[in-house]
Amino acid sequence: MRTLISNGTVVTAEGSYAADVLIDGEAIAQIGLNLREGVTADETIDAAGKYVIPGGIDVHTHMKLPFGGTTTIVDFAVQSKGGSLREGLDKWHALAEGNAVADYGFHMIMSDVTDESLKEMDQLVAEGIPDFKLFTAYPGVFYSDDGAIFRAMQQTGKNGGLIMMHAENGLAIDIVAADLVAEGKTDPLYHGIARYPVFEGEATNRVIRLAEAAQVPVYIVHLSATDALEAVRDARDRGSQAFAETCPQYLFLSLDDMGNGFEGAKFVCSPPLRTADHQDDLWTGLIKDDLQVVSTDHCPFDFHGQKDLGRGDFRKVPNGLPGVEDRLDLLHDGGVMGGRMTKERWVEIASTAPAKLFGMYPKKGSITVGADADVVVYDPNRRHTISAKTHHMDVDYSVYEGREVQGGSDVVMSRGSVVVRNGEFTGKKGAGRFIKRSPADFARMA
Ligand code: URP
Ligand code: ZN
Ligand code: ZN
Repeated sequence: MRTLISNGTVVTAEGSYAADVLIDGEAIAQIGLNLREGVTADETIDAAGKYVIPGGIDVHTHMKLPFGGTTTIVDFAVQSKGGSLREGLDKWHALAEGNAVADYGFHMIMSDVTDESLKEMDQLVAEGIPDFKLFTAYPGVFYSDDGAIFRAMQQTGKNGGLIMMHAENGLAIDIVAADLVAEGKTDPLYHGIARYPVFEGEATNRVIRLAEAAQVPVYIVHLSATDALEAVRDARDRGSQAFAETCPQYLFLSLDDMGNGFEGAKFVCSPPLRTADHQDDLWTGLIKDDLQVVSTDHCPFDFHGQKDLGRGDFRKVPNGLPGVEDRLDLLHDGGVMGGRMTKERWVEIASTAPAKLFGMYPKKGSITVGADADVVVYDPNRRHTISAKTHHMDVDYSVYEGREVQGGSDVVMSRGSVVVRNGEFTGKKGAGRFIKRSPADFARMA
């Protein structure tokens, strides 16, 4: 199957230019002007007035199926407490195989740092799972103490892996949360109140300092607060290999969204939504490259039947929001249309930088000859209103309900096959492949 995308503007992290793109089988075969005069194709897509961009890469999801201009996800496999990394990983492979509609990789959540699990890390790196998430939050569940984190970091110094940190001071948060509940403050809003920004700032600085001591890079996930951004910026200013992502919810939503009685449960995630004054700092962090990536932390729970569990005690509301489908369009609308960033930076934070940091570049995250034909024909003028009535995510609400956005995908291709056309899914369950990723080449981030 050969597809010619003609008359479009190719937008990459490095620049934009008019070109036709020829896709042959699963890869990009040729890029140039007026290709239609010299080549034959089974289908020609007219991209006049449209952008031709590498498919979005969302490196932080907790789920099974992707959508919305995103052609690659990296999902979190989970080591159960007392279990091995291998058991957790096998479970996630089994969930994805035969079900995924787009290509996928895994990071590994480490709940138990032991001599055995440290050894297992080396094997996972060799199998294409080079990143490990640890937590300073969630005591008794995923929490690791500083010694465990430091040991895991030392191990990545030997095997080339990357530690990803959920950085909030979970021990302190639990004390504030218990005090609030004792005072009768049980609404979801108090989830946001209990998790002070300084608890995120403190933990972010601490884990970066530990990484410096271990002489390894570190990646901060779902950074939400100015306090944490300052810790990353200071570290980068002193030459540290500290990297970080933020998420659309921290750029577009705020603590105010949590204030409507139990409706606020829809917005319960950790770190929590912050007061609106943090948002401008995060946008600035993205422009200045103190934040390199925007991923979603897509982690959907139905409002009815799941979020419900926390009525009467915000500590029992399952943490997480849906959003994988909306990321590219929200960032285009708020970032490019909002005048905050160039379209090239938009492609970089949503596709190219994640591909580089997570060992998939240039096969993913680029429009180059030989790259996987994960290509999106993107209409910068298309408008739509985000709603749970029309989204494709398997969850009964949207945190962006009623928000109008400018920009949308006309055609989404995954390794040369059209998987979405004008909002309709045309792909095949099971067509997604596991991506065996390399340890990141951090020099590329310079
Ligand atoms: O609230 C969140 N973020 N849920 C997902 C788990 C995590 O910590 O990333
Ligand atoms: Zn987390
Ligand atoms: Zn997450």
